[in-house]
Amino acid sequence: MANTDDAHKSENVGIIGSGLIGRSFAMLFAAAGYRPCIYDIKESQLDDALADTRKQLADLEKHGLLRGSLSAAEQHERISTTNDLAECVSDVFYIQECVYEREELKRSVWEKVDPMVGENTILASSASAIVPSKLSEGLVHRNNFIVVHPTNPPFYAPLVEIIPAPWTEAGIVQKVKALMTELGQSPVVLKKEIEGFVLNRIQYSIIGEYMRLLKEGIMSVEDLDKVMTDGLGVRYAFNGPLMTAYLNAEGFYEYGEKYRDMIFGIQKSFGEPIKMEGDILKQMQDEITRVVPMDAIHERRAKRDLRLTALSKLKKEMDRKDSENS
Ligand SMILES: NC(=O)c1ccc[n+]([C@@H]2O[C@H](COP(=O)([O-])OP(=O)(O)OC[C@H]3O[C@@H](n4cnc5c(N)ncnc54)[C@H](O)[C@@H]3O)[C@@H](O)[C@H]2O)c1
Repeated sequence: MANTDDAHKSENVGIIGSGLIGRSFAMLFAAAGYRPCIYDIKESQLDDALADTRKQLADLEKHGLLRGSLSAAEQHERISTTNDLAECVSDVFYIQECVYEREELKRSVWEKVDPMVGENTILASSASAIVPSKLSEGLVHRNNFIVVHPTNPPFYAPLVEIIPAPWTEAGIVQKVKALMTELGQSPVVLKKEIEGFVLNRIQYSIIGEYMRLLKEGIMSVEDLDKVMTDGLGVRYAFNGPLMTAYLNAEGFYEYGEKYRDMIFGIQKSFGEPIKMEGDILKQMQDEITRVVPMDAIHERRAKRDLRLTALSKLKKEMDRKDSENS
């Protein structure tokens, strides 16, 4: 059941936007015993959200991946919807905004919400790259504002980046971190804001280098993806790049001694970023559609989700064994 200490006097949570991420947050909160209420400007989206979360929760139950102690039906019963913003955000201890990634839109939503909330309500945005200071400057409750950036799909990839604005109270960071842990997510905190946060900066640096290697004719799209799925990605599913390096030598001093000049030399050759447009974009589209044609995308997504489910189960099982042995 939901926590009822001072930090969360109410079980109610407001979710603004009923797309992919709004639905996921609603399910995560419902699984932990909260009562999320989803608001959207499009009425039809709200109906879709209810039908889709019902199906997703039933699928998770079928695969043994449902969180918490409530059944899928009981979790779904906790999710409600509204087309009235005030109803969504009043009497809630936490709001997660999940509208399109457009600064003006997000700012206008928060300007409307700001006068509707109490002094202690936590105001969180799912923004993927827009820094919290740009979204909250000028809000009366800006000290309660924070970005909580999930990884998609949140049930299988539990990482959430927590990014405070310069004026966010330290207590809000701690409360949000505890809340995300309670939901079963894996929170990481940025000590200060930076455009793109961390996950997307790393992701885009990889895609940037992929485009350079394609442009220079070093490798095909199919083989480039294999470098990740059969190489780096396999390692990184269990150990991050820093732990991987540490384990690949007798500690970091030896790793630095052995590899620093090679690493530095390669890093210096990375050069200017390449824009995803024109010939490079066409090459990526042409080559990838030979592997998975456009009319098979749906099928490939289903395969991706099955594999993510299997990996998620394996990781859960290994974590359980680790905690039993510790
Ligand atoms: N999809 C991802 O992989 C992903 C991952 C992490 C974070 N995010 C971030 O989460 C946020 C939402 O992304 P998404 O993928 O769920 O988008 P989406 O397109 O699936 O859904 C956006 C929803 O917002 C609604 N909306 C638009 N204007 C609104 C308004 N004024 N008030 C209320 N609702 C409104 C739309 O009707 C739609 O239902 C974005 O900031 C995005 O960058 C997305």
